[in-house]
Amino acid sequence: MKKTILITGGAGFIGSHVVRRFVNNYPENLIVNVDSLTYAGNLENLKDIENTPDYIFRKGDITDAEFINNLFDEFQPDGVIHLAAESHVDRSILDPLSFVNTNVLGTVNLLNAAKSCWSADSHEKLFYHISTDEVFGSLGATGYFLEDTTYDPQSPYSASKASSDHFVRAYGNTYGLPVIISNCSNNYGPNQFPEKLIPLIIQNLRTRKPLPVYGDGLNVRDWLHVEDHARAIDIVYHKGKTGETYNIGGFNEWKNIEIVKLICDLMDEKVGSENSQSLITFVKDRPGHDMRYAIDANKIKNNLGWQPHYTFESGISNTIDWYLQNHEWLDHVTSGAYREYYSEQYLDR
Ligand code: NAD
Ligand code: DAU
Repeated sequence: MKKTILITGGAGFIGSHVVRRFVNNYPENLIVNVDSLTYAGNLENLKDIENTPDYIFRKGDITDAEFINNLFDEFQPDGVIHLAAESHVDRSILDPLSFVNTNVLGTVNLLNAAKSCWSADSHEKLFYHISTDEVFGSLGATGYFLEDTTYDPQSPYSASKASSDHFVRAYGNTYGLPVIISNCSNNYGPNQFPEKLIPLIIQNLRTRKPLPVYGDGLNVRDWLHVEDHARAIDIVYHKGKTGETYNIGGFNEWKNIEIVKLICDLMDEKVGSENSQSLITFVKDRPGHDMRYAIDANKIKNNLGWQPHYTFESGISNTIDWYLQNHEWLDHVTSGAYREYYSEQYLDR
């Protein structure tokens, strides 16, 4: 029987990969993508599938409860995969309230709509909330985030995501809403907005601008290719156990400075530039900068059979190629408002 899956934030970086995967792999289902198209949402990400039968895009804001309730009335979704969010830590430091609005209020609007839509029968329904490892705070030199690691968010972004996770669990506990949460590490790959480290460095190398490295560059992140995350989301959505949480990570820790140097060397090889590492500039640190994130992804590996397919070597090389080949995409997203944000963020560091 045809099922309807509502995906929020499907025009963003990870959301567009998830939407494409579900539209291509599950043509028997109706996929409804709802996104308000903020600076981070871009329908160019989905050009190749926009005319596929049983795929619908709706522009709308999850902070608008009336819009969300009408959407649920119209489509009666069987499942929700919730990715819409304000996602950038540096922006959350400049403007925390928009993170509260979208990430907390928006999530509660969706939970309320699902609760009332599924009140008669929540059998085989699922509210799947996509979250981040940043809710767990910062690790020292050793140790890993597990599913039961205590929440300890440090930035306005992670505090808003932690709050949304708590609301999702609260609706599961209090109202019996069928919920699953996954918490993932840093994603990289095609279509990522160049405010995030990897596409920012590639974009600056293209234009021979300084490469801003926060602090001493020794902070560690665990990197996962976005297609591996999209595949994990597919597996959790179809095989995950209601009420459970799954950590998703790349088993792939890198110091920021090492990643920046690697990208410099790969760019020199690929475009024939020289000594790109000389563009590295250490700038004022991000306030409250978390030192290290590292995910223990053994639960999803052992229980659901997921593990990353991309090696970092091939993933980062393909990612650089994608940005070099898709310079129009980069030029479009780096115009206008992004330029203002960029000067505010970097020029006086
Ligand atoms: P993104 O910023 O690229 O995309 C977010 C999308 O949400 C955009 O399309 C935007 O238009 C949409 N959106 C924002 N506010 C909205 C609103 N009020 N109503 C409707 N749509 C709205 O983000 P991303 O990096 O693709 O992250 C997607 C999700 O995954 C987020 O929930 C994020 O917290 C989570 N996550 C991201 C990463 C990562 O490394 N990028 C890692 C773990 C978890
Ligand atoms: O861990 C998952 C999280 O990963 C997601 O929840 C977030 O949505 C996503 O933005 C990402 O958060 P980070 O803050 O880790 O990503 P970002 O790309 O902003 O930064 C990665 C590291 O690089 C971090 O230690 C800060 C540093 N950095 C970042 C930028 C933008 C720099 O040194 N220079 C920069 O210009």
